[in-house]
Amino acid sequence: MTKIDVLLGLQWGDEGKGKIVDVLTPQYDVIARFQGGPNAGHTIEFNGMKHVLHIIPSGIFHADKVNLIGNGVLIEPCIFRKEIEGLAEKGVDAVRNLFISKKAHLILPSHRMMDAANEQAKGNMKIGSTLKGIGPAYTDKIARTGLRVGDILSSDFVERYLLLKEQHIRMAQTLGFDVAAFRLDGMTLEAYEQQWMESLTTLKAFRFVNSEYFINQCLHDNMRVLAEGAQAMMLDIDFGTYPFVTSSNTITAGVCTGLGVAPSTIGRVMGITKAYCTRVGAGPFPTELFDATGRYLCEQGHEYGSTTGRPRRCGWIDMPALRYACMINGVTELYVTKPDVMNSLDQVCMCEAYEIEGKQTVEIPFEYNTVEVKPLLKYYEGWRQSLEGITEYAALPQQLLTYLEAIERQTGVPVAAVSISPDRKDVLFKKVQ
Ligand code: IMP
Repeated sequence: MTKIDVLLGLQWGDEGKGKIVDVLTPQYDVIARFQGGPNAGHTIEFNGMKHVLHIIPSGIFHADKVNLIGNGVLIEPCIFRKEIEGLAEKGVDAVRNLFISKKAHLILPSHRMMDAANEQAKGNMKIGSTLKGIGPAYTDKIARTGLRVGDILSSDFVERYLLLKEQHIRMAQTLGFDVAAFRLDGMTLEAYEQQWMESLTTLKAFRFVNSEYFINQCLHDNMRVLAEGAQAMMLDIDFGTYPFVTSSNTITAGVCTGLGVAPSTIGRVMGITKAYCTRVGAGPFPTELFDATGRYLCEQGHEYGSTTGRPRRCGWIDMPALRYACMINGVTELYVTKPDVMNSLDQVCMCEAYEIEGKQTVEIPFEYNTVEVKPLLKYYEGWRQSLEGITEYAALPQQLLTYLEAIERQTGVPVAAVSISPDRKDVLFKKVQ
């Protein structure tokens, strides 16, 4: 019996998970998504082409791999269909090697409307949701009113769909939301709904499975399984910067509930962190930079949301948050991405602790959103050179190696590899002595 390895983002998302999964995929037989939905955007670049995946696991580009969408994931059929069509244009036939849990919940058009209604009602407390219907769909799951993938095969599906939609419309109206004026991709709710219903045909072409049995059988058969996280630790519904979070458990524990595997089956936990830090949407971000360096990181790092196109907020790496992430997730190895974005900086900074109300701390406080959290920065010498053409970890500039060693020392977790460009080939693995 094999163990299931986990790959997660340790910051506020967009750490480059898609790319690292893609690089690691050859070592695995099965790639499984366990939470989140089309709010995710996993970017993979190879052969000069860029691919963004939202719901489909990143192993889809490898024809011999099994890809699984677990019960903890949310599927929006229209977005799913577009993703499948986009893959087909690139010559990828996903039907062949993608399996979907019957227990995965569906995002209805009216969930997306509710997302907009909820955000509007929040006034200046807006989360900055991707508006893909994530919060409302998970709300229905917890309220036991949701619809699941397996339900689309039942004869009363449309009836149940309409009931739920009516409920959402009533809720939106209660919030003072203008339902008639609402548009999804430029369409009225009804027009979009028609496309949504048509998209169920695409979904039905796939093999629906009892994914808990499926995945446990894979482990039993000694297949190597990788669980691919979406969003990231600091957006976790329980341990993230609540309420500025997503609505799922993005952490290692989420693998157990999102796939149906026992805690004892968890093997390696690979945590991805950028060499700096970004956040898209609202919420606390103590190391955020509002100056020219922040703008430089944004431009140089192409820090624009892959799902929404919004510019990402940029700042220095935050060690209290990273240590917290390593603790909650039991991270066994770190993957550091995008140090190349900082190539021209004379100095790079690391937030090693916080000062809150005059007191120094290395813990994430409960009052994270409401108190002023001052980052205590340590300066490191920049490497001031291009990393292009470097093919070995040990050949990285000494200043960068010193910076990476500081990350290892402060988290107590070894760095397994560094990614120095968007291309697959530029992930440099550290040789274990
Ligand atoms: P939601 O999950 O779309 O409701 O968004 C909740 C918060 O999580 C917002 O601040 C989003 O910007 C953020 N978020 C959701 N998904 C991602 C992601 O894949 N990467 C980065 N941020 C995300």
